[in-house]
Amino acid sequence: MRKIYIAGNWKMNKSCAETVLFLNSLIDFNNSYESEKIEQIICPPFIYLEKAKEITANSVIKIGAQNCSEQDNGAYTGEVSANMLKDIKVEYCIIGHSERREYYGENDKLIQSKYLKLKEHGIVSIICIGETLDERESGNTFEVIKLQLEGIFDGIDTVESDTFVLAYEPVWAIGTGKTATPEQAQEVHHFIRTWLKEKYNKQSADSIAILYGGSVKPSNIKELLSCPDIDGGLIGGASLDIESYKDMLTIAKESEC
Ligand code: 13P
Repeated sequence: MRKIYIAGNWKMNKSCAETVLFLNSLIDFNNSYESEKIEQIICPPFIYLEKAKEITANSVIKIGAQNCSEQDNGAYTGEVSANMLKDIKVEYCIIGHSERREYYGENDKLIQSKYLKLKEHGIVSIICIGETLDERESGNTFEVIKLQLEGIFDGIDTVESDTFVLAYEPVWAIGTGKTATPEQAQEVHHFIRTWLKEKYNKQSADSIAILYGGSVKPSNIKELLSCPDIDGGLIGGASLDIESYKDMLTIAKESEC
């Protein structure tokens, strides 16, 4: 049985004080929320990770980074290694986000290197894939997703569901308010799961979580979670607001997924 992931990607937002306020409020909420099937993940900017880990140390809340280096250590100005993330006990790390692909030139080969490095240090990767609007409108969605998966998993012969989750984030739905319809999302999630089954096996495909990202909010998360292959959300804007994050947790707990 796969868990439901409610993962907040804060991107480059919030101050230290706002981070503390949000996490303390979430801890209070968790005093009466209890659900073993929901994985709560918050991914603040690097600079607040250690503080976030400190605050959430005795809670169910998991903390994730938004990126990491593919290198172990050395002269890589501005970079942060998987080993450093492990050092402060970060549990998750987003890699391959479309914003990093677009603004920082990251490609599938690099994303694979980051995944392998995170795996070596026991950090779960949240690996993002997704097509642009042009690619969708020209009918290439499945081809693009397939090429991304082939690139990221090239040469990897076995996979373990506790080392990564996938996040399908159609680029045209990120920060635009335009969510993929549950049908559009489910169709791609099903395609991804079938790809995993064909490349690996049914057991792996059935156990790997696939999150949806792109304008997820309290008003649409229920429908998205009702789709058989959608195992949660990677949420940007709506995860910045504590009330909306709590609302999404409440809806996820009530969902049948
Ligand atoms: P929004 O939820 O703001 O569209 O962002 C999605 C995203 O990029 C999460 O990684």
